[in-house]
Amino acid sequence: MQLAKKITEDTYYVGYSDRRLELFENIYPIERGVSYNSYLVLDEKTVLLDTVDHSVSRQFMENVKGVLSGRCLDYLIVNHVEPDHCATIEAVINAYPECKIVGNAKTLQFIAQFYDFDVSSHSMTVKEGDVLSSGKHSFSFVLAPMVHWPEVMVTYDSFTKVLFSADAFGTFGSLSGNLFADELDFEKEWLDDARRYYLNIVGKYGIQVMNLLKKASSLEIGMICPLHGPIWRKDIAWFIDKYKTWAQYEPEEDGIVIIYSSIYGNTEQAMMYLALKLGDLGVRNIHMYDASKTDASVLLSECFRYSKAVFASVTYNLEIFPKMESLLLDLKAHLYQKRRVGVVECGTWALQSGKKMTDILKSMKDIEIVDGKAVSILSNAKESVQKELDNLAENLLK
Ligand SMILES: Cc1cc2nc3c(=O)[nH]c(=O)nc-3n(C[C@H](O)[C@H](O)[C@H](O)COP(=O)(O)O)c2cc1C
Ligand SMILES: [Fe+2]
Ligand SMILES: [Fe+2]
Repeated sequence: MQLAKKITEDTYYVGYSDRRLELFENIYPIERGVSYNSYLVLDEKTVLLDTVDHSVSRQFMENVKGVLSGRCLDYLIVNHVEPDHCATIEAVINAYPECKIVGNAKTLQFIAQFYDFDVSSHSMTVKEGDVLSSGKHSFSFVLAPMVHWPEVMVTYDSFTKVLFSADAFGTFGSLSGNLFADELDFEKEWLDDARRYYLNIVGKYGIQVMNLLKKASSLEIGMICPLHGPIWRKDIAWFIDKYKTWAQYEPEEDGIVIIYSSIYGNTEQAMMYLALKLGDLGVRNIHMYDASKTDASVLLSECFRYSKAVFASVTYNLEIFPKMESLLLDLKAHLYQKRRVGVVECGTWALQSGKKMTDILKSMKDIEIVDGKAVSILSNAKESVQKELDNLAENLLK
């Protein structure tokens, strides 16, 4: 059964969702699954934009065949050569041997590196600014290097004003009948996943995302068709604005995230004390997480979401507790910056985690550590430490 759906004029959604996959990129939990989007344009020539992951290839091939209904496929534009989108290229070429694969030099090189079929005999190399006409539609190509991978480009159809945006503007989450963001409660049900997707997967490349947004600002965009998640045709500016905030590493909200690593609960208790104090001081947007319980991708996303953070960790064999250490290194790798943070350490005989945490945080750009050092807890936060936590709460808000 084909399950394609017309999205505008002669453009069809031919992708599909995978609800079974546990970990996207074998690392990010996806409770709600993920969609692999692909689009097919029926013009004088037929044009497919990207393919899908092998897990949904069967449905995808049925969708393509169904929409083409006997026509041949003339072009396959490849915007991104990550296997979640290109795993089905070979199957497409086998089914439609006349098809030309349209990509930039790197695209075609990467496809040849991944797969065994003869790419060169199918390839059509394009550069930035080139235009491919299929009849009524004119597709132009805008290079977007490192808006996930170096070969990435986006394709603009000037006839329908659709921007095929590759991984940009994508999100985790399966599609359930409604393909458009305006048919969903995106802010309530999707934004957290969109933020987590962006910050973990593309977040390191803020400068490149800003470059793409700058290039795209000269285009009249009526619809954004990403490779994951819903399609945008309304409130596009709202979502682009979110991207600008994320890409420039600005906090999205005034608020405090408290993340702790505690074995027996003493450090946790101290963080609850701090949270209550912050509440007394009038803070309303406080979010506490146990770094061993909540997935690192959520923690990272929450750190970028709020303007302030507190990191608290026990000393563990003279080191930072592993979950906390890996979170801090992950934040550094994702260019965490422009934040005011508090640091708290706990230990019973040789406290080390505070110094080691502040060392990592100091190696990041534009991170202000409250009072320049960690608050230290000897086993359990007694009265003198509670006073220091009171100060930490007050100084964090300054
Ligand atoms: C396996 C293990 C290793 C630890 N290593 C250290 C250490 O090197 N230095 C230290 O001062 N405390 C060490 N501690 C004690 C903890 O840092 C901490 O003081 C204690 O677990 C109480 O805090 P909590 O209730 O938040 O877990 C260790 C604890 C455990 C269980
Ligand atoms: Fe990607
Ligand atoms: Fe992707």
